[in-house]
Amino acid sequence: MCGIIGYSGHRPAVPLLVEGLHHLEYRGYDSSGVSFIQAGKLHVVKAAGRLSALEAKLAHEPVMISTCGIGHTRWATHGAPEERNAHPHLARGGSLAIVHNGIIENFQELRDELTASGCTFVSDTDTEVLACLIEEERKRASSLLEAFARALRRARGAYAVAMVAPEEPGTVYAARLSAPLLIGVGTGECFVASDVPAFLNYTRDVVFLEDGEIARIGRGGGSWELFRLDDLAPVSRATTRIAWDMQSACKDGYKHFMIKEIMEQPRVVAECMAGRVPADPARDVLDGVSLPELDGMDVPRRLRIVACGTSYNAGLWGARFLEKFGGIPVDVEIASEFRYRDPLLEEGEAVLAISQSGETADTLAALRLAKEKGRAALGLCNVVGSSIAREADAVLYTQAGPEISVASTKAMCSQMVVLLLLALYWGKRRGKKDDSALLTHLRGLPALLEGALPAMRETATHAARTYSGARSFFYLGRGPSYPLALEGALKLKELSYIHAEGYAAGEMKHGPIALIDPDFPTFALALRDEFFAKMVSNIEQVQARQGRVIVLTQPDSCGECGDLHADVLWMLPSCHSELASFLALPALQLFSYEVADYLGKDVDQPRNLAKSVTVE
Ligand code: G6P
Repeated sequence: MCGIIGYSGHRPAVPLLVEGLHHLEYRGYDSSGVSFIQAGKLHVVKAAGRLSALEAKLAHEPVMISTCGIGHTRWATHGAPEERNAHPHLARGGSLAIVHNGIIENFQELRDELTASGCTFVSDTDTEVLACLIEEERKRASSLLEAFARALRRARGAYAVAMVAPEEPGTVYAARLSAPLLIGVGTGECFVASDVPAFLNYTRDVVFLEDGEIARIGRGGGSWELFRLDDLAPVSRATTRIAWDMQSACKDGYKHFMIKEIMEQPRVVAECMAGRVPADPARDVLDGVSLPELDGMDVPRRLRIVACGTSYNAGLWGARFLEKFGGIPVDVEIASEFRYRDPLLEEGEAVLAISQSGETADTLAALRLAKEKGRAALGLCNVVGSSIAREADAVLYTQAGPEISVASTKAMCSQMVVLLLLALYWGKRRGKKDDSALLTHLRGLPALLEGALPAMRETATHAARTYSGARSFFYLGRGPSYPLALEGALKLKELSYIHAEGYAAGEMKHGPIALIDPDFPTFALALRDEFFAKMVSNIEQVQARQGRVIVLTQPDSCGECGDLHADVLWMLPSCHSELASFLALPALQLFSYEVADYLGKDVDQPRNLAKSVTVE
């Protein structure tokens, strides 16, 4: 998704803008650009492709001493990913430049109106329309601030936008509606950006913009101000200090962020449990957590989970534990489907929105719909201060640290931990028996994972070499392994572009089995849980049709693999049966990672994907 950075301060702006854009690369992009004001004139430099293309162009620019500017990485929505459509976009009279993340839904209507009044456009973007609209409004408004607000009031949709204009050479204007944007407050300098890493090398003090607010930075040397979009009334807000530093957003010597994030899952599990799984068995799990009153009840009567992508798979996994341990009926829905129905939510039903970024447009809309319908809305997020976290009635944080690789890995692991704890927490409140044995095993999980990961990576590397030539893959699982099969298939297609389908193993016989042949391998999850024997039968059905199989399994109580035979018999350590998913998940992630790396794919930024999808 697009990344925005703006700067006003005492240092040369362009290097800071480019550095900020590098830290936003994880969001996914296909072109980039910067704009700055020098000697009273607006300069725009942009390039299609990677940031290195922009840097190469900037190297040929005359010395840039401007201390104010904006920058952007674009993830195409309107118009092809070419330089013409890259941001910043100029208003036709050259009076201002803007960068934008999101979609202006009524852009065609506005474009027609502006065309009729003489505007011409050089790009296919909704952003250029907005730039021209601000310029038009400037003819009627008493100030640039007012023109900016008047134009934005006419825009429908979702946006984060930043603007510079020679009329006020040291100032950056910015605004948000349903897309992330925040201010970084330094000493004598300020930033606006889509995310904290863009300016974290310079300040940890941030101000979160709310929907319908305008920010103005740089007036009077590093100052910042907020205004309400509707009436331009000033808004006061305290700064928040961000705890994590840039170190945690670096690769730690790994080749890619993805492998670093997979390998740090033992720590992620430990940090996710910190303060939530007390050593003292007399104290409750999630002790001290404050969840809202749910129609006068301590526990929801029913739960609807809404999420997208990997977070949806985590929700599907968590549902069976919330039912089993929490005693709550749970439905899991893809957020983009939920939001466009008129869902019937029962009295006492709560909605849980799961989102790593906390900014996914469909999940945010689903959460808002639940609130509109008067239901308690809970959030399960990783990014502190994100839109979902702020708008939910209560939020549980996964505490997984920044996830940079576009493909989500450690976030899912942390979501699973919190969902399991939530199930135990609600179960206790409903008078269900305390599963202290499970908690004891959960406490031992980080060490178990830590010990298992190196061997898993070796097996993954070996299997990846053998199977990277496959054109299609099945992933099969039952019970808790079914959502993992979906996730395994999602990871393989996201990273290596190999077609992969996740199936509930019992469904194979109803059609998909017709595809099995020696060139269509299957990745089967046969963990030591109640579904093991059934999975063995499913594996045999595949093998009877000459299908090659990788089986992810665990030894039986005698340390044996029993009757299981496979082309790759991938042994994970034994563990409490309810926790086996925590071992299987990194194995699936590692396999996809190693296949993609072996095939030379862009692991951290797969084609066409974005980390934070803030459009529908
Ligand atoms: C994008 C990412 C996925 C992620 C999904 C949901 O598609 O590429 O990795 O699972 O969004 O993101 P969220 O931040 O809501 O968990």
